[in-house]
Amino acid sequence: MVASWTRNHILDLTDWRGEELDIVLQTATTFQQVLKGQTKKVPALQGQVVTNLFFEPSTRTRSSFELAAKRLSADVMNFAPGSSSLTKGETILDTAKTYLAMGSDIFVIRHQQAGVPHFIASQMDRLQTGVKVLNAGDGQHEHPSQGLLDLFTICSQFAPDNPAIQCLQGKKIAVVGDILHSRVARSNLWSLTTAGADVHLAGPPTLLPKEFQQLTLAPGSGKLHCHWQLQPALEGADMVMTLRLQKERMTAHLLPSLREYHHYFGITHNRLKVCQPGVKVLHPGPVNRGVEISSELMDDPEISLIQDQVTSGVAIRMALLYLLGTVQEG
Ligand code: CP
Repeated sequence: MVASWTRNHILDLTDWRGEELDIVLQTATTFQQVLKGQTKKVPALQGQVVTNLFFEPSTRTRSSFELAAKRLSADVMNFAPGSSSLTKGETILDTAKTYLAMGSDIFVIRHQQAGVPHFIASQMDRLQTGVKVLNAGDGQHEHPSQGLLDLFTICSQFAPDNPAIQCLQGKKIAVVGDILHSRVARSNLWSLTTAGADVHLAGPPTLLPKEFQQLTLAPGSGKLHCHWQLQPALEGADMVMTLRLQKERMTAHLLPSLREYHHYFGITHNRLKVCQPGVKVLHPGPVNRGVEISSELMDDPEISLIQDQVTSGVAIRMALLYLLGTVQEG
């Protein structure tokens, strides 16, 4: 199974094949069993060094990559920009080279600008370092590990014993909110459609540009639909993913008010009545309570998968680190 894994870097999900998604899901399923056991640890990456280069704040992603690396017995270094030599003018590449000289094998990179993980990966390849790069969220571009943990969380609901992409054939998944600024939406629309789901994006016109309608999906993928009203996206939906309003990325006045946004696009128990019975709700976090989702719904353990997403994140990130750390160089 793992022998067919060939990627040296995980930078985005645009060109992933269904088989690759299934390799990640199967590997994560194995690690989830490890995490449920007594020892919770395997020696798979013993001797390897995983370096978290987070130039932008994070709670979930940074901590779960750190825990995932430790569960695989890797050594972990964490870079904090505020207390680093970046403040003295050191460049990002020189920062990466410094950690390379200390023996890093895998860089996990988050940056507020799209393309930084790609840049570091291309420099690591050019220098023939053998270092692997994992994008932990770059600007408005992509957040592949979040897209994969969301896929794992969803598939685990439909097929708990064998979460695989097959279970998404013909399923309707609504993705609601600030699509414009969301790297999570951009990763999810590729992974979910490649897995065979029909993805329905919904948001106000200022936060859901028409260009999303023109994306070209791979043959055999599920369909992508855009809605500028909530109801058509929710009708008959099997899963609803709501996204954070990214106020820190909004440079223009894109919304009249947060109250009006909640009125038209906030997800509540009442709004879910048009969905499939048993519908579940996801949110990548962090959440603006009472804006994109009601506080009551967020805390409803029968419907909200938000905590499951966080738990799935550790197993998925173990799988990604393991696959990169053990890939045979071509
Ligand atoms: N979902 C997500 O990326 O959360 P953090 O910003 O806390 O890592």
